[in-house]
Amino acid sequence: MTIDWSNLGFSYIKTPWRFLATWKDGSWNEGELTEDNYLHIHEGSTALHYGQQCFEGLKAYRRKDGGINLFRPDENSKRMNRSAYRLRMPEVPEAFFLDAVKQVVKANQEYVPPYGSGATLYIRPLLIGVGENIGVSPAPEYIFTVFCMPVGPYFKGGLTPTNFIVSDYDRAAPNGTGAAKVGGNYAASLLPGYEAHQRKFSDCIYLDPETHTKIEEVGSANFFGITAANEFVTPKSPSILPSITKYSLLHLAQHSLGLTPVEGDVYLNELDRFVEAGACGTAAVISPISGIQNGEDFHVFYSETEVGPQTKALYHELTGIQFGDISAPTGWIFDVPLD
Ligand code: PLP
Ligand code: COI
Repeated sequence: MTIDWSNLGFSYIKTPWRFLATWKDGSWNEGELTEDNYLHIHEGSTALHYGQQCFEGLKAYRRKDGGINLFRPDENSKRMNRSAYRLRMPEVPEAFFLDAVKQVVKANQEYVPPYGSGATLYIRPLLIGVGENIGVSPAPEYIFTVFCMPVGPYFKGGLTPTNFIVSDYDRAAPNGTGAAKVGGNYAASLLPGYEAHQRKFSDCIYLDPETHTKIEEVGSANFFGITAANEFVTPKSPSILPSITKYSLLHLAQHSLGLTPVEGDVYLNELDRFVEAGACGTAAVISPISGIQNGEDFHVFYSETEVGPQTKALYHELTGIQFGDISAPTGWIFDVPLD
């Protein structure tokens, strides 16, 4: 295996092991690690026809002492179960989820990028409805699988300012599935994302689906802005994905940087209040937003080339905690036992 750790993008790399468990007749089997990276499922599977599936995304981080950290994986488990509930899928018990994640990381430990490379191991838990079915009803069986791969930055350049464009499309409906991490939301984002890329933007900004006046999401990441009054502001809405990174940053903004954390409305016609802005998420980490195109208007935040001081400080605080260099708030870091 030769991997150029420092030049990884965000793309699929086959690692040797993945975990796979099945649910049937009301319970999960114990599951096992397997080398097969294909799923063999019935043609009537609800995941294929009706989008009855949900997933998660989290990362493993190599520490300076060679150990491996997970960042708040219990929150991913809780969110997966909320997504499962929304789509009438069975719960994956938290201990089972955490054990599966740890097994997969341990089995693929040589693929966890070295400390200092900037790269991480991206972990993808996936829950899908399978088995014989054709009517619109919950599947008779489910597969829970966890696989992983080493990744670099999601948006090109990582901590490099990048531009986004406001989309005319919605990724989710007001009382739909926007807060659940379900494939349908991402399917709905493919055309808007394509159109944004065609116009040389990193991704699109989705507005609230009810009034189209407020910022909701930045592609596959949440939005944040820093005001001149030292507030860290993120949108509050029932149709955005409750980002674990965002909630962590709200905490760090207050307790480590002394900013005022605010979850509230982010009106598109009030962007002048922000001196800095960014996108945050597991894959995105923190990506500074240099500008937002909205129709004919192009709004520039801090700079088109430089990263603002608060964005930089938040990035160092967050990644310092994730890689084990800065002590974390209680319960945020889970060690992966390696023997
Ligand atoms: N918003 C969307 C639509 C996402 O897909 C993600 C990624 O998971 C996020 C926000 C960020 O969430 P988190 O910080 O939990 O990864
Ligand atoms: C994540 O940040 O984990 C995501 O899910 C983003 C993505 C869909 C690639």
